[in-house]
Amino acid sequence: RKTDRIVKACSYPSTFVADPEGLKITSIPTTPVEGQKTGTSGLRKKVKVFKEGNYLANWIQALFNSLPPEDYKNGVLVLGGDGRYFNREAAQIIMKIAAGNGVRKILVGRDGLMSTPAVSAVIRKQKANGGFIMSASHNPGGPEYDWGIKFNYSSGQPAPESITDKIYGNTLSVSEIKLADIPDIDLSCLGITMYGSFTVEVVDPVSDYLELMENVFDFQLIKNLVSRPDFRFIFDAMHAVTGAYANPIFVDTLGASPDCISNGIPLEDFGHGHPDPNLTYAKDLVEKMFAENAPDLGAASDGDGDRNMILGRGFFITPSDSVAIIAANAQAAIPYFQNGPKGLARSMPTSGALDLVADKLKLPFFEVPTGWKFFGNLMDAGKLSICGEESFGTGSDHVREKDGIWAVLAWLSIIAYRNKDKKIGEKLISVEDVTREHWATYGRNFFSRYDYEECKSQGANQMMEHLRDLISKTKPGQRYGNYTLQFADDFSYTDPVDGSVASKQGLRFVFTDGSRIIFRLSGTGSAGATIRIYIEQFEPDVSKHDMDAQIALKPLIESALSISKLKEFTGREKPTVRQ
Ligand code: G6P
Ligand code: ZN
Repeated sequence: RKTDRIVKACSYPSTFVADPEGLKITSIPTTPVEGQKTGTSGLRKKVKVFKEGNYLANWIQALFNSLPPEDYKNGVLVLGGDGRYFNREAAQIIMKIAAGNGVRKILVGRDGLMSTPAVSAVIRKQKANGGFIMSASHNPGGPEYDWGIKFNYSSGQPAPESITDKIYGNTLSVSEIKLADIPDIDLSCLGITMYGSFTVEVVDPVSDYLELMENVFDFQLIKNLVSRPDFRFIFDAMHAVTGAYANPIFVDTLGASPDCISNGIPLEDFGHGHPDPNLTYAKDLVEKMFAENAPDLGAASDGDGDRNMILGRGFFITPSDSVAIIAANAQAAIPYFQNGPKGLARSMPTSGALDLVADKLKLPFFEVPTGWKFFGNLMDAGKLSICGEESFGTGSDHVREKDGIWAVLAWLSIIAYRNKDKKIGEKLISVEDVTREHWATYGRNFFSRYDYEECKSQGANQMMEHLRDLISKTKPGQRYGNYTLQFADDFSYTDPVDGSVASKQGLRFVFTDGSRIIFRLSGTGSAGATIRIYIEQFEPDVSKHDMDAQIALKPLIESALSISKLKEFTGREKPTVRQ
């Protein structure tokens, strides 16, 4: 490969026995710190909080105290992160505590870098017992901003609630930290260092992941597209972790021009950016894709590389449409799905565009609560191949996390496949053409999300209670403007694999024409309450597919605001973000 990522010279031999004598383990007394409740995306706090005293060390020790010994003693763990501030320091702490607790080997990404989907891929490929991801996803990074840590299990999937609950329990009683007495490990060059029975291997964060991508996709097909003089692709890594992947994958392997990548160097503060690929935060990319002579396909990924946004020339694809279009074209364009996807799934608020594809392809279909974790069981049971969420997450069962680069390669594959016989100079089938064709075949699901961030919790909760109360009194057939109610409920999900039930997952008003209004409180906000309203309307009539979504959805939006009494409960006139 052309980049320096594999060949960088190390100051010591690639296998270095630093401490043949054995490992010295020190027990450090500690006292519990409050507020270490672990959500399903791990623990996320300000850097300052993590840096205080034993905050991070306590949580890591509580994690080892929570795992059955066979899940880590003498085992292998993967360690990686999104490159944000404090990762380097944190990596050293995590490795020393892992060694202190009897872990045999840590596979750590060079410079502590590894995207979330790549950690999932490496855990699976290397048959590791699990892995740590140092990331606060799309939250800003730097001394004043956020840090976070997640633990994934041997399937490559985020630890289940049964484990995260135990970790929290143990943070309340942790009294000693088992720390291996080893020096800081140089993460800047590849190689193996052994300290007695404990080994650290600094690995290239890209190779295993790239190998997986080469097995999933037809790289030659994509290469033929990307190297065409009449096709231009751009990728914005937002100074986050996919910067480490973009060059080796898009440039070195697929032959894209090096200048197709912007913000390609991972920085500890993401270049003062907010590494979230959406129309608000990926502003540079949006400007380029809506300018005159815009490229043909533009994409971005978030801090830890699991989210994605796809744009055509002057054209935005909603994540709900994106997963539906990928699913509809997967069998033809992506070798991994050559026998057809096993099943499709989306989160409840994600538009019903994917349902229509499942229907047409006669595939099993699942509607799960918000959160990637709900897809994992279905994948492990062989029931699910392709899934997505409206929150810019798309992926498949090749790993157990959503995967930004995978989504970009999926779109490149679709465009490449549709244009494979086109001569240079012949008009290419564009991202917009593919999308419009999809709408013409399946109908268009107009979709929008209104976010009211940092509302007072009390008002937001009262609004949800008011809606629950309303739902208990509604009857099918009631009229809301021009819409007739089919049903209204509080979404609840029974996992078809293990029978577990997740209730209170969002309030739905579903109308007879398939239109929906959904209310949910965000589970990821860090201050106050964030109310999300999801609005969707199905439109089979091709002549209306050109309409602006906000215009098409106006009557439903008005209904949503009036039935929820949002203004009365929150004092808000306008959403803070609208997608
Ligand atoms: C994280 C999860 C996603 C989920 C999203 C929902 O990004 O990884 O799976 O869709 O949170 O966030 P919200 O703020 O709507 O609860
Ligand atoms: Zn993320």
